[in-house]
Amino acid sequence: MYTLKVKLPSKNYEIYIKKGLLDYIGIKLKDICSSNKIAIITDKNVNAIYGDKLSMYLNKQGFITKTIVVKPGENSKSLENAEKIYNDLLDFKIKRSDMIIAFGGGVVGDLAGFVSSTFLRGIPFIQIPTTLLAQVDSSVGGKVAVNLPRGKNLVGSFYHPNAVFIDTDFLKTLNKRYLYDGMSEVIKYGCINNKNLFYDLLQYKLESDLFDNLDKIVFTCCSIKKDIVERDEKDLGERMILNFGHTIGHGIEKYYNYSYYTHGEAVAIGMYNITKKSEEVGITQKGTSQEIKTILHKYNLPYKMPNLEKSKLIQPIMIDKKNNNKYFNIVLLKQIGEAFIHKIDLKEINKFI
Ligand SMILES: NC(=O)c1ccc[n+]([C@@H]2O[C@H](COP(=O)([O-])OP(=O)(O)OC[C@H]3O[C@@H](n4cnc5c(N)ncnc54)[C@H](O)[C@@H]3O)[C@@H](O)[C@H]2O)c1
Repeated sequence: MYTLKVKLPSKNYEIYIKKGLLDYIGIKLKDICSSNKIAIITDKNVNAIYGDKLSMYLNKQGFITKTIVVKPGENSKSLENAEKIYNDLLDFKIKRSDMIIAFGGGVVGDLAGFVSSTFLRGIPFIQIPTTLLAQVDSSVGGKVAVNLPRGKNLVGSFYHPNAVFIDTDFLKTLNKRYLYDGMSEVIKYGCINNKNLFYDLLQYKLESDLFDNLDKIVFTCCSIKKDIVERDEKDLGERMILNFGHTIGHGIEKYYNYSYYTHGEAVAIGMYNITKKSEEVGITQKGTSQEIKTILHKYNLPYKMPNLEKSKLIQPIMIDKKNNNKYFNIVLLKQIGEAFIHKIDLKEINKFI
């Protein structure tokens, strides 16, 4: 089993990574939970495949559980849904000493984390991420949120789990498009911080090579994120590096109203196109964008910028919550494995997008 310890000023917690870990979660939770009551928040798809198994392992260890099931998909990350869950938790008589489990992809993780951070001013919670994106990204780092009709993740906080349990066997039942969606974030980690990860991914011949190495890959990605989060928990500086490809990516997602490209696909297009531009202006080592194109193609991810009105793409980027009015931070690569934050004047934006 791979283990990582996240050390923050306010909290320390472990991330456990292992194929088949689900079978041991009940035993492991005995050391983490001070009470015997657990509310599991999950979505309909995950519950249908794994819900009974998780409850059974927890009940076997003496935990009393209640499963709260939401509809799959981004629309579930809403204040209305949070309120429904608060009521379910009240019915279950959850107290501050009890525990919530976020059992699902990034939607469930963000929603259940948000509920945990606000209900009774904070209930301890555990992340059991079941998509690749959630395993390498959203379950680590403490960002929890719900959406408002006017935008994504507009209400939320930084609230860390008491532990993260990652079982890569969950990914066997994941729809292939979501698997590759998560691979986009994995490739991002290779681009920004770890060239060995990038070139290992490039040389795998079969999908089975990928599956055989998933524990190590997820561990590498979580280690990178953990180190960055420890240095910049509140996303005020270095953590921005994790947004490589996301500036253009978010613009594309918004342009298509979150309905055509998945997040990972939009980020893939962003990583390739911003690198092509930074190569053209002599910032990035020549040939880097070609390598990114090759790896994206290998993992069924798009790289071509869709034919869209550029001004409409730039608009949401300009109102991104991380930008001030004059300057704009973009993440660029020097070469594969090395990223940096580049501050540009807003007038220069056309050079890069
Ligand atoms: N908090 C953060 O730091 C952070 C970072 C990145 C993304 N996010 C958020 O994550 C969300 C996207 O997460 P996602 O891509 O995991 O999507 P998701 O949670 O919607 O899951 C994708 C689909 O896969 C299904 N599913 C999940 N696990 C499965 C499994 N093991 N087998 C079969 N089906 C399974 C789900 O039911 C859903 O239909 C977005 O809301 C995004 O804002 C948060």
